[in-house]
Amino acid sequence: MQILSLPFFISPSLSLSLSHLSPSVHRAFKINELKTEVTNRLAMLEKRVELEGMKVVEIEKCHNDIKKLREEMASRNNSNFLEDNKKLTPRRDVPSYPKYHLSKETVEALRLPTFDAWQWEPNEMLSCLEHMYHDLGLVKDFNINPITLKRWLLCIHDNYRNNPFHNFRHCFCVTQMMYSMICLCSLQEKFTQLDILILMTAAVCHDLDHPGFNNTYQINARTELAVRYNDISPLENHHCAVAFQIFSQPDCNIFSNFDPEAFKQIRQGTITLILATDMARHGEILDSFKQKVDNFDYADEEHITCLKMVLIKCCDISNEVRPMEVAEPWVDCLLEEYFMQSDREKAEGLPVAPFMDREKVTKPTAQIGFIKFVLIPMFETVLKLFPQIEEAMVQPLRESRDRYEELKQIDDAMNEVQKKKSENLTMGGKKK
Ligand SMILES: *[C@@H]1O[C@H](CO)[C@@H](O)[C@H](O)[C@H]1NC(C)=O
Ligand SMILES: *[C@@H]1O[C@H](CO)[C@@H](O)[C@H](O)[C@H]1NC(C)=O
Ligand SMILES: *[C@@H]1O[C@H](CO)[C@@H](O)[C@H](O)[C@H]1NC(C)=O
Ligand SMILES: [Zn+2]
Repeated sequence: MQILSLPFFISPSLSLSLSHLSPSVHRAFKINELKTEVTNRLAMLEKRVELEGMKVVEIEKCHNDIKKLREEMASRNNSNFLEDNKKLTPRRDVPSYPKYHLSKETVEALRLPTFDAWQWEPNEMLSCLEHMYHDLGLVKDFNINPITLKRWLLCIHDNYRNNPFHNFRHCFCVTQMMYSMICLCSLQEKFTQLDILILMTAAVCHDLDHPGFNNTYQINARTELAVRYNDISPLENHHCAVAFQIFSQPDCNIFSNFDPEAFKQIRQGTITLILATDMARHGEILDSFKQKVDNFDYADEEHITCLKMVLIKCCDISNEVRPMEVAEPWVDCLLEEYFMQSDREKAEGLPVAPFMDREKVTKPTAQIGFIKFVLIPMFETVLKLFPQIEEAMVQPLRESRDRYEELKQIDDAMNEVQKKKSENLTMGGKKK
């Protein structure tokens, strides 16, 4: 039949949902999440077929889509559990990833915000993270089993998804920036080693199993995550829960030698820091820090906690601190992830933010406001405590702002010319 020989058609929302199904799903609740999602999508399609009185050809396409989705779900039903177990179960037989020898130059470069994270394979990034834990004295001071450290890092890697932005490389960059700040600001003279361990570990874990769609989407689409966490930082709660699911396995528990009191502290500290990465709390956290910074007291536990929260926030959004060649590709990654979300929001009839809309946003417009009103004010506040970051971190931010403002002027001028041209064309057309 003619209709059936048409090229197989998948609507954008469906192909998205299919690609969303494939990556690093794990655990039983994940399956429920998927089922709910697929079921919702099926229901939407079926409703459209019924209500919109689609043309025969489209109905046929939809039927095919539905059939394929159902098959997909059925085939994933069992395999998911296997995959899940593989993900969460550490690789007992492979206690070490191929060890890359880190050259002296690499080890030196790793301490600087200029480090180029794009050059490295996952295995190399794992070796770098491992090096940081050793170099900061954490392995020695806390008697961490070095093999457990390797297994834990592998498990962390396996539990980041292949999102355009929120992936393992982002985890690495945030942690590497934290390491740079610890070195640059001599934080080991100000903080206890437990605080350093919390800062590093929270950075490593802070986006675990990120699905690539932000909190607002989770809440508006009433996803499993939003329901579970009552719309309160659903993603950050999830990152944290996954982190401690991983620690609950003895093979991956780098804190297994800790006494209960120390574990309690590390758990509380890590939770506080990961939850602080929700940008919805940015104003609240920065205001609280501003109130303390002029009379900062390293003996005051509240002050220390607030500073740690600001530090992880700085590292989380620190791409623009890096050299332009390193920072710029991240903007493309972020926009790609935004577009995936806004496409899905459009398909599902949910509100879309203009800055995520592929029709409306450009790289300069995406970055200028963020650098001027979020990054620079936060880093300038941290600068009051650590003048060391002026040259290495704040100055690059100002340069990046200036560069994007120039790029925007060029964009604007080009648009103006384009507009004039099309005006002339219509006028010419009218005359004829
Ligand atoms: C998944 O498998 C279970 C048993 O293994 C079965 O009862 C259930 O109906 C299956 N679900 C789907 C969606 O195929
Ligand atoms: C998340 O997405 C929504 C659009 O659904 C947008 O309005 C919101 O600003 C986004 N939040 C962040 C932190 O980017
Ligand atoms: C549009 O037309 C005007 C005169 O009609 C001309 O001066 C101008 O250069 C044209 N602009 C463009 C961009 O072609
Ligand atoms: Zn992050």
